[in-house]
Amino acid sequence: MSLKRKTLELLKRREQVQQGGGEQAIKKQAAMGKMTARERILALLDKDSFHEYDLFVEHEARDFDMDKKILHGDGVIIGTGTIFGAPVCIYAQDFTVAGGSLGLMHARKITKIMDHAMKLKVPIIGINDSGGARIQEGVNSLAGYGEIFYRNTLASGVIPQISVILGPCAGGAVYSPALTDFVFVVDNISKMFITGPEVIKTVLGEEISMEDLGGARVHSEITGNAHFFAMSELECFEQIKKLISYIPWNNLRKAKAFKSKEPKKTLKIGEIIPSDPKQPYDVRDVIKSIVDDSDFFEIMENWAGNVVIGFGRIAGDTIGFVANQPLVLAGVLDVDSSDKAARFIRYCNAFNIPLVTLVDLPGYLPGVDQEHAGVIRHGAKMLYAYSEATVPKITVILRKAYGGGYIAMNSRHLHADFVFAWPGAEIAVMGPEGAANIIFRKEILEAEDPEKMRKQKVKEYKEKFANPYVAAAKGYIDSVIEPEETRKLLIHAIQLSSEKVEDRPKKKHGIPPF
Ligand code: HXC
Repeated sequence: MSLKRKTLELLKRREQVQQGGGEQAIKKQAAMGKMTARERILALLDKDSFHEYDLFVEHEARDFDMDKKILHGDGVIIGTGTIFGAPVCIYAQDFTVAGGSLGLMHARKITKIMDHAMKLKVPIIGINDSGGARIQEGVNSLAGYGEIFYRNTLASGVIPQISVILGPCAGGAVYSPALTDFVFVVDNISKMFITGPEVIKTVLGEEISMEDLGGARVHSEITGNAHFFAMSELECFEQIKKLISYIPWNNLRKAKAFKSKEPKKTLKIGEIIPSDPKQPYDVRDVIKSIVDDSDFFEIMENWAGNVVIGFGRIAGDTIGFVANQPLVLAGVLDVDSSDKAARFIRYCNAFNIPLVTLVDLPGYLPGVDQEHAGVIRHGAKMLYAYSEATVPKITVILRKAYGGGYIAMNSRHLHADFVFAWPGAEIAVMGPEGAANIIFRKEILEAEDPEKMRKQKVKEYKEKFANPYVAAAKGYIDSVIEPEETRKLLIHAIQLSSEKVEDRPKKKHGIPPF
């Protein structure tokens, strides 16, 4: 056979396998409002950049008549490509082929591309759309998952790992996304759960839909398993591309630098915070008045909103922001917000992304619920994450910084590199009202007019402690600055820290409170 004819045969074979589960199954996929695995990869990657591996891999299962079944590509597509020119490895489970279920060869394809990503030191993106372990393949399927989890763990902190949930992700399969850095979900399409509605009905007698059990909103608003929520697959792909633009390819690199752009002039940084310390405001406006082009890429925006995390650029460099959000629960730290911030701080530290922390909080949330939910253990994660971090760490105290919250939000005492405070900052063990009630209790009780005395004592306390100058006098704050100076000083601090090296004691690994 001539090479020309052989090439024609290749094209024919390729076309056949690329049909996935065939016309009917593809129609069913479309009827569910879902793109096919191949369409997804092509929509996400740069045009003409995708190169597929292992197209002709076949399963080797023999039981339950599997030897009579052809499963094209064994239900998963793997390969390499680029996003905005940055190289990535990718896999996408093909639900049209045996429900994207994971058998031995399917798992081998995934682990092969994961190994490839680790060798090449580039991000790995996994698109999940699967009925879980392929039931006919028994323990081989379980072995496959185990091999994936093992690689997820080894890759953690070395290359970025991104999980996209575009269909069911059921049973133990959910643990791969849970081990990765960022999980993307799409409304009405993503479903993640350990035990499905059928099992719940059988075991507990409770009826629940898949959507209410583990739909996209559940994971972005209630469980905190998802980092990004989108209304459509295409919107989701735009979010992934944007994320890729902010992060480095691996832990030995820095994120790509862009051209610096001034923030939008419409945001007046000095006018965002109300003078009454009890009045809320949106801290995202402060971030937008600092970052290039006022472009802030928020992460987990629908969960634990009392802390805001995300990426922005300052003079072209990617920066990780952690900020208390006075709009939600007055910006207190609690179980979930500590979890959210601590993990993000560790991400930034692992991937050489400087941290800017904006502080305005009344402390940790008091209450039996929080104590019993483990606020001690979860709150400690913040202290651990900041203390452990060796990337440039810069803090700006905007307004309140009380108690344990002051320490936890990257204070000088956790070895922040630069600590700035705005003139309205109040740094104290607790708020003036609470403090005056405790330390002047006797005077207030014994006064002729206790309310008048209470107000006077609150005023006295405020004048003495609720300002930045006591901390500044001790060097805990480096500079008290005008709000308008913030961006300029951050640029200075970040540029100054670009070669920062800080050592930590040599150890196998730490034992953070998780
Ligand atoms: C083999 C499977 C499969 C599976 C689906 N299919 N899941 N084949 N193993 N796990 C096949 C179906 O038989 C069907 O084949 C095709 O995929 C499409 O499935 P449908 O059921 O028709 O699709 P749909 O109605 O959309 O329902 C999707 C679904 C449902 C909700 C995911 O298929 C389902 O509940 N599947 C089982 C989920 C599950 O319990 N998985 C095991 C979890 S245990 P045909 O030939 O008819 O087109 C697990 C342990 C891992 O994963 C532990 C790791 C630590």
